[in-house]
Parts: sequence; C-alpha cells; structure tokens
Amino acid sequence: MNGIPNHVAIIMDGNGRWATRQGKKRTEGHYAGYKRLKKTALYILGKGVKYLSVFAFSTENFKRSEEEVNYLMDLFVTAFKSDLGFFVRNNVKVIFSGRIKPLSDKVLKVMEELIDETKDCTGGTFNICLNYGGQAELVDAAKKIAIDYKENNINLDDIDMNNFYKYLYQNLPPVDLMIRTSGELRISNFMLYSIAYAELYFTETCFPDFDEKEFDKALEAYNNRNITKGGVKEKK
Ligand code: IPE
Ligand code: IPE
Ligand code: MG
Repeated sequence: MNGIPNHVAIIMDGNGRWATRQGKKRTEGHYAGYKRLKKTALYILGKGVKYLSVFAFSTENFKRSEEEVNYLMDLFVTAFKSDLGFFVRNNVKVIFSGRIKPLSDKVLKVMEELIDETKDCTGGTFNICLNYGGQAELVDAAKKIAIDYKENNINLDDIDMNNFYKYLYQNLPPVDLMIRTSGELRISNFMLYSIAYAELYFTETCFPDFDEKEFDKALEAYNNRNITKGGVKEKK
C-alpha cells in the first residue's frame, strides 16, 4: 500500500474521440469533459489528495481549428464564472499554470477572479494547466533564474533539484501519480520537471467517462506499484 498520493496529475484526453464516436461534434466532447471534471475533481480531492493538476489546454492546442479554440476559450470564460461559487462552497483553492500570452483579457479576468475568490480555501489545491507546455515552463524557469541572478544577485550554487520548483509556474510538490485517459501512451509535454518519479497510469477510457470508479482503479494500480524512487523497497 502506498496510500493516497499527495499530488495527482491528469492529462484529460479523448474528448474529441468520445464525441465523434457518438456522432456528436468535438466541441460537445469538450463540454462533457468539463462536466465530468467537476465531479471527478471533487471526488479526488475528497479522497485526501492535496494537489490535483489537470491539463486543460496546451500551448500546442492553439494549432487546432479556430472554431475549436474559440469554443474552448468561451467555455473557460463561462465555466470559471459560473463555477466560482462551486469551488468556494467546496473549499477548493484554484490556481493556474501556463503562459499568459496569447490568452485574451476575458479569459485572464475570470482566471484572476477564480484565484482571488478561492485563495483562502483549504480543502485541496486544484491546479488548472491552461496554455501550458512543459518545455515552455522550463524555458520560463531559466529566464526567471537569469532575472533573479541579475536583479537579486542570487548565488547560483543555492539552486538545487529541490528548490528549483519555486521557479516553475507554481511551487507544488512533485507529482506522485500521473493519469492519461483515452489510450494514448505519451506525456505530450505535461509537467516535465515534476513527473520525474511519478507513477504513470494509462487508461483506454476517454475523459468524459473518467468517473469515480475509474479513478479508484487508478488508485488501486498505484497502490500495487513498488515505489522505490531510486532506492530499495523495504520489506513489510
Ligand atoms: C482533450 O481531448 C482536450 C483538449 C486537448 C483540450 P482532445 O480534444 O485531445 O480529444 P481527442 O484526443 O482528439 O479525442
Ligand atoms: C494533451 O492532449 C493536452 C490536453 C489534454 C489538454 P492532446 O490531445 O493535445 O495531445 P496529443 O496531440 O495527442 O499529443
Ligand atoms: Mg487528444
């Protein structure tokens, strides 16, 4: 038994295929994924997971059709606005990871409101990765260090693998369990630094169907893993 992972990350993939398979538009899959996320996220945090990071939109996703990108941006605006109360009531602290540019002022405004309204919530941290790329995060971290060096004269020898996290978009603990839905066996540029020793769990289930039972299966798999993190597992 490894217990409840402290930090779970999910690559919420397969919304499009979920919709197409049912003769629906891809955008309907995104809406279904959003509805699912609210339920599954609460369940995961309710289990005692302290940090939940979800991949909502990658920097690379801007390459999709204008219609799909616009739909997703509009969905973020309406969802973050209408779910303010939902997060506050459920005591969930919402934070974001990703680049600001080229997000619109409308999207940025609702993101800021959500951060502000939930900043004192203590029932788990929900990290929404939006306009996020793992390589971009490391490039941005390198730039932050360069600025810190120039402006604050920091000692470069003080930067180590543990405190490097503070230069990432959010200073969160490493990921313990990373889940990807829909059967793709890739990382797709997600949380490259923080998943160094994460247990990886892949499921064929598309994200709109990733419910409480599906998470329990991932948790069971996690608990059956022999987690050594480079050391030797002690016999129980
Ligand atoms: C994940 O589902 C959601 C986003 C990337 C925004 P996809 O839209 O990638 O769905 P598939 O992979 O095409 O089925
Ligand atoms: C990763 O899924 C990004 C999100 C889930 C938001 P993609 O569907 O964009 O990734 P690829 O293209 O299959 O690698
Ligand atoms: Mg996909």
